[in-house]
Amino acid sequence: MLTGACLLLAACSADDRAARRAAAGPSPDRADWARVADARAGERLFARCAACHAVHRGAPDRNGPTLFGVVGAPVAGVSPRFGYTAALQRIGGRWTLERLDAWLADPQAFAPGTSMGFPGLADPLDRADVIAYLKEQR
Ligand code: HEC
Repeated sequence: MLTGACLLLAACSADDRAARRAAAGPSPDRADWARVADARAGERLFARCAACHAVHRGAPDRNGPTLFGVVGAPVAGVSPRFGYTAALQRIGGRWTLERLDAWLADPQAFAPGTSMGFPGLADPLDRADVIAYLKEQR
């Protein structure tokens, strides 16, 4: 999938992170990162999630819930049969792009006591790429 930034850059190789960082601008916010996000890069990064999460329609839960359709789904609700912690359940509402970004940056800060044993993705471009990939899984 070509993003607007890729079209402007004329050439959008599979791993053009430096160019994408530059295209995000001088002090990028979440929306800027989303603008230069690459779902294919996110698919590769998802290898770090795949030990615990499947993402395809109808896939079984693993250590973590199946994430098919997670963007816009209720928090602690994308996979209704999964045994979520009270820590995540008490968040309420739905998984917006902003909330997914905060969650993936630091799961323990977003939902203290969550059972998601993952330290988070410190790089905002990594998070934007993974979220772009998750958006496609619906
Ligand atoms: C070591 C296992 C593990 C890894 C690695 C992991 N997760 Fe999770 N994830 C979990 C568990 C367990 C939960 C449920 C947390 C709870 O109930 O507190 C969860 C919950 C989630 C949820 C919330 C689902 C819902 O229904 O609300 C999202 C979104 C998510 N993970 C995304 C990711 C992404 C993206 C990655 C990779 C960048 C990742 N996780 C890496 C175990 C993991």
